Amino acid sequence: MVKNWTLEEKSAIVIGDSWSPPGLCIGNVNPIPSVGFPGLCLQDAPVGVRVADLVSAFPAGVTIASTFDRNLARLRGEALGAEFLGKGINIALGPGMNLARNAEGGRNWEGFGADPYLAGEVAYETIRGMQTLNKDGQGVQAVAKHYIANDEEHLRAESSSNLDDRTLHELHLHPFLKSVQAGVANVMTGYNLVNNSWAAQNSKLNNDILKGELGFQGTIMSDWAGARSGVASILGGLDMNMPGVIDWLHFDGTSYFGGNLTAAVNNGSVPLSRVTDMATRVLASWFLLGQDKNFPATNFNGWNLTDPATNSHVNVQGDHYKLIRQIAASGTVLLKNVNNALPLQKPKSLAIIGDDAFPDPNGLNFYQYRGGNNGTLAVGWGSGANDFPYLVGPFSAIVSKVKPYGTSVKSSRDNYDLTLAASLAKGQEAALVFVNSDGGETVSVVEGVEGDRNDLLLWHGGDELILAVAAVNKKTIVVVHSVGPVDMAAWIDHPNVVAVVWANLPGQESGNSCTDVLFGDYNPSGRLPYTIAKNDEDYLHATPITDLVPNPQVNYDEKLNIDYRAYLTNNKTPRFAFGFGLSYTTFSYSSLKIKESKLSSAQTTELSNYLSRKSAVGSSLLPSLHATKWSVSIKVKNTGKRTGEDVPQLYLVYPADSGEPPRVLRGFEKVKLQSGHSTTVTFNLSTYDLSIWDVVKQKWTVPTGSFTVLIATDALASPSLEGKI
Ligand code: NOJ
Repeated sequence: MVKNWTLEEKSAIVIGDSWSPPGLCIGNVNPIPSVGFPGLCLQDAPVGVRVADLVSAFPAGVTIASTFDRNLARLRGEALGAEFLGKGINIALGPGMNLARNAEGGRNWEGFGADPYLAGEVAYETIRGMQTLNKDGQGVQAVAKHYIANDEEHLRAESSSNLDDRTLHELHLHPFLKSVQAGVANVMTGYNLVNNSWAAQNSKLNNDILKGELGFQGTIMSDWAGARSGVASILGGLDMNMPGVIDWLHFDGTSYFGGNLTAAVNNGSVPLSRVTDMATRVLASWFLLGQDKNFPATNFNGWNLTDPATNSHVNVQGDHYKLIRQIAASGTVLLKNVNNALPLQKPKSLAIIGDDAFPDPNGLNFYQYRGGNNGTLAVGWGSGANDFPYLVGPFSAIVSKVKPYGTSVKSSRDNYDLTLAASLAKGQEAALVFVNSDGGETVSVVEGVEGDRNDLLLWHGGDELILAVAAVNKKTIVVVHSVGPVDMAAWIDHPNVVAVVWANLPGQESGNSCTDVLFGDYNPSGRLPYTIAKNDEDYLHATPITDLVPNPQVNYDEKLNIDYRAYLTNNKTPRFAFGFGLSYTTFSYSSLKIKESKLSSAQTTELSNYLSRKSAVGSSLLPSLHATKWSVSIKVKNTGKRTGEDVPQLYLVYPADSGEPPRVLRGFEKVKLQSGHSTTVTFNLSTYDLSIWDVVKQKWTVPTGSFTVLIATDALASPSLEGKI
């Protein structure tokens, strides 16, 4: 198709139309009438269509990660894809998959937690779901973002994430590898520098690793105004410049691409073949998702929702609210439950305390970019959030639930009137305290927080509120909505705090999903996608706002030891480990069996060629490298009295001198079982799963020696079962 296009036509398809109307979306590639190309609409966000009406607000990335459920991740992706498609959006700007390396990271909640394997599995399913074709063979293009090590919001476009080759490959690249494996159409570069070269023009990352090792055939686009050069970016692998402005100060049509790109070709700085490659990649993504076949026109206006000419108010929500409720319940983690305090059984009286139990009194979408924390927290802030069509708050959902029981309910949303809170909580059968901690993208400053959190404390005096209630009520139940870990030292061991429900960021059905768990309509089966520490110094921290220098150097000195790996390596005990989560029922594991699968002779040849030859394009995705080599099966039994789901986890122990942390996650499965029932769960391990990145050979290599397979209930739990490979 591109063969007969002029340089100008090729250049036109790789740039946005600036940052304002008449384009309807957050990024717009203008139509190219001379070649019959209709243009492209690019729109946030990873949790649903941003700045649009009649769309759903899904549970955040961190919540779907907490479900540890591939099936739900796929369904969430499909539902998201259907909503973007229904609005006539070509490219949905998600999912985000940066690892929650530091505890304060403002955008951690957009991603899938702190472990590369978990994040990789969820990214894979999300993308496969989002890019599902409809009955007409059309689908939405997903965007894996932000490539790579884009883990700080403070001075995000100036800081350099410095990491070595092995850390890059084994941790931070893995979710992107899984995205390419899922067929992702686009990758968005980060604002940051990586090893002191801007991500958007880092040739090693874009040309050698993403397009080389991973064989990525789609489009690499910049983050918005994230390109810092023209020629260097284009030669460094950047294919598309978004939104087409040179920076956030100039909206006069100047861009590093556009006229500068054609000039660069004409003066010999950029070969024409490279521009042909860029345009080909954009079109390849377009064809991959069937967008050449009467793709629906964009039917909303993200710049003006009330313009009748451009917003036709198409309702794309379907029955997604059901899935949203299920995901949020499934992603809720029960952290503490003394003497089966939960589930609640037809309580005679309840106190519901805290601003987080109630909707924002100012209105549903009062704060631009959700950049405010007033009322129940169901999403973080920034471009990763979208508007709520409605938001069910915990208070109203609980009141509806207990109506048939005749429960008396007292409530206060005032976090600072501790006397009132205590007087209401006193004498009630149970007191529920709702607290939160918010964070987001640096586009908004919320109560002094400029994206990355300043500390890990609960907001709005949450600690004092919990203590005031716990002082008077023996059955104090704490529900936390949070973007990441919080410091619980003040109250977690209080004898009257008998239950803690970690509700993450649930989206529009917040109150309903929480009520489902509190009252046992849904057996809690969420697992922590990051570790909650006992001590602040046990975390890696974001660069504090006070330390800022022109180019903060963020050194990934921890190498492979992020999150639970650090606790294992340094022999420290966290408060709640990655993978932890309680249940209302109990499970047992038995009968571990390990079976080696024979690769076909073609696969064996492919693998040995990989190891003996110079790496070819796409070699990290060779089918033989990812084919099942070992199958580990176990029997899981529900030994308790209720139906419920469980998440057996497989951790791998590498041979002693391979330089790996003491154990790493390499398998999980969510299984639902009735009381007394059992099933066999199988974890498949590939050669890649057992490899390390050999920096000398520049290849995935299985270290020699014996491996141990552990089945455990969390990353630090003593293993329930063990086997050898
Ligand atoms: C900047 C954010 O980093 C990115 O995630 C988003 O997609 C773009 N803005 C567009 O809003």
